Amino acid sequence: MSAYGTEPGAPTNDGNPGETSELPQPEDLGFGRYLGAHLVLAEHDGARWSAPGLLPRQALCVPVASAGVQYGLSVFEGLKAYRGADGGVHLFRPQAHAHRFAASAARLGLPAVDEALFVESCAMAVDAHRKLLPPYGRGSLYLRPTIHADEEFLGLRRAQRHRYSVVVSACSDPAMKRLRLWAEPHLIRAAVGGLGAAKTGANYAAGLAGLMHAQAKAYDDVVWLDAATHTRLGEAGSMNLFVRIGSRLLTPPLDGCILAGITRDSLLQMARRARLDAVECEISLDDLAIAQQRGELGGAFGCGTAARIVAIDEIGDSTRCIRFSAQDACVSRLCAALKDVQEGGTSDWPQWRYGLFG
Ligand code: PLP
Ligand code: COI
Repeated sequence: MSAYGTEPGAPTNDGNPGETSELPQPEDLGFGRYLGAHLVLAEHDGARWSAPGLLPRQALCVPVASAGVQYGLSVFEGLKAYRGADGGVHLFRPQAHAHRFAASAARLGLPAVDEALFVESCAMAVDAHRKLLPPYGRGSLYLRPTIHADEEFLGLRRAQRHRYSVVVSACSDPAMKRLRLWAEPHLIRAAVGGLGAAKTGANYAAGLAGLMHAQAKAYDDVVWLDAATHTRLGEAGSMNLFVRIGSRLLTPPLDGCILAGITRDSLLQMARRARLDAVECEISLDDLAIAQQRGELGGAFGCGTAARIVAIDEIGDSTRCIRFSAQDACVSRLCAALKDVQEGGTSDWPQWRYGLFG
């Protein structure tokens, strides 16, 4: 099982984004399978970005001899557009995604896309694919802004030509799944000073072998531990982690080795406003085992834009198995509250919904 309900090898759709008849019911869209037929594209000539324009998605060629392909000089984002309860369409926290995008680009020496261009291009991508947007409450349009180095040159240097694109994909509302996670004992994905906090392909490439280890042991996903001691929780393959111990809701700190998740930040702010004791602190496997022995271990979950919230039943390694409570009402309450905030089912947190059109 994957976190998003996508089956390996499922076909992508290359059809006309206006043709909703080609799409299955929103509940059967899954994640990342049904791509919009157009993308938004802007080009950086070494000095500035061009104005963004629409292009058929398959018309964009990425040269194999570019540093984007050869050296992984690319960064990306993942955010969602929703149809709200009032029929309007909005993006969830696009400014926060724009800031993280700029930080990722700076880490890799790529030209930054500023907030205005980011939001304008995302709005343009949603507008071109209005008919792909599932109805209120039943899914979203996932946006994948990407910057890649594009010029053909095999030497290693900062590229002079880059492209910025936004691809979209119609997605189901993620169902709350329950996962078993493997605490990877040997491989590392990120270390202090490395790329862990940047949303760039290298992190996912570095993580794939860990996912394969986990799946070979019949786990669903991997938990990355700190590189120095292999004892402290970092994040899962594509989600930040939260665990409840006693009355406290804990999440690993932003130490430069994990992604500063927008969902994580939203949940921390929502939990604190709801007067939950939500704390960013180091969490070791031993802490979890001790809490389990004392009967203080509550629920645990992963969170991210694609998955929203996924309950964690268990974290295991070759020596132990830590089982979390399956009956933690706090986890399901947070998940329902987050869905409402993201989709506009509540008037709370209005500053997080960037209205596009009615
Ligand atoms: N960590 C990783 C490695 C991710 O890929 C993601 C997904 O984007 C997250 C955490 C969660 O981040 P966000 O909530 O901003 O989607
Ligand atoms: C997201 O949640 O936006 C992601 O980027 C997940 C993706 C790596 C599958």
